[in-house]
Amino acid sequence: MNVIITGGTTGIGRAILDLFFAKGANIAFCARNQKDIDVLTNKLLNIDPNRNVIGRSIDVSNVEQIIEFQKEVIQSWSQIDVLINNAGVFLPGEILKEESGALELMIETNLYSAYRLSRLVAPTMIDQGSGHIFNICSVASLIALTNGGSYTISKFAMLGFSKVLREELKTTGVKVTSVLPGATWSNSWAGVDLPYERLMEAEDVAKQVWGAYDTSPSAIVEEIVMRPQLGDL
Ligand SMILES: NC(=O)c1ccc[n+]([C@@H]2O[C@H](COP(=O)([O-])OP(=O)(O)OC[C@H]3O[C@@H](n4cnc5c(N)ncnc54)[C@H](OP(=O)(O)O)[C@@H]3O)[C@@H](O)[C@H]2O)c1
Repeated sequence: MNVIITGGTTGIGRAILDLFFAKGANIAFCARNQKDIDVLTNKLLNIDPNRNVIGRSIDVSNVEQIIEFQKEVIQSWSQIDVLINNAGVFLPGEILKEESGALELMIETNLYSAYRLSRLVAPTMIDQGSGHIFNICSVASLIALTNGGSYTISKFAMLGFSKVLREELKTTGVKVTSVLPGATWSNSWAGVDLPYERLMEAEDVAKQVWGAYDTSPSAIVEEIVMRPQLGDL
């Protein structure tokens, strides 16, 4: 099983990466921080030196870097089973008050990265007649987050992209699942003064992603919506 994941070094992406690796996957992942990438690559190869691990430092908002990353993966793997479009950024703010450029940065990072990488990877999956693309959206794809103006816009768009891709790939054997988590412990929430149980654990999300992957070819989990037991923050 060959799995590509963007933003695999921390948070939700890391939990998904760890679970798929534990299930036997070869992993290609990216993030910006080279040190985090090296530490994770060494950790994975220490667990199983026979596994293929490709970790690359790229900024997913940069189209040339996305193309280079995909080219390198395709050169190593003739088959791609799973693509997880996870990398994303949350800049708090309100539409009328946030810094100019906030919307552009979050659209580039959260949406265009997934759009571009899916367009590069999906043709291989279509040729195989199988594959699974997960798009990490958010409950902010369904409701307007207070103090999350442009983030909400980017995540509504991400769900729109994911739904369209699902329809377009329906007859190809390639599955598309939209994942909509609520508040989940990660770097984005570092330092927040809330009881641990108020937020979900990234591993909760990873288990649902694995469950959606682990279905027969005739079944598709189209959407995963998850919230903390006590609801949205
Ligand atoms: N945590 C939540 O409450 C929550 C809820 C709903 C949805 N989500 C979504 O879940 C996804 C993961 O979020 P998270 O909270 O787990 O975040 P996180 O802990 O901050 O992790 C983000 C990951 O993406 C990488 N990344 C960020 N920007 C990047 C860029 N421009 N290019 C390449 N890699 C980049 C980070 O590594 P580097 O910093 O080294 O680049 C890191 O590996 C996001 O799409 C987020 O919107 C999160």
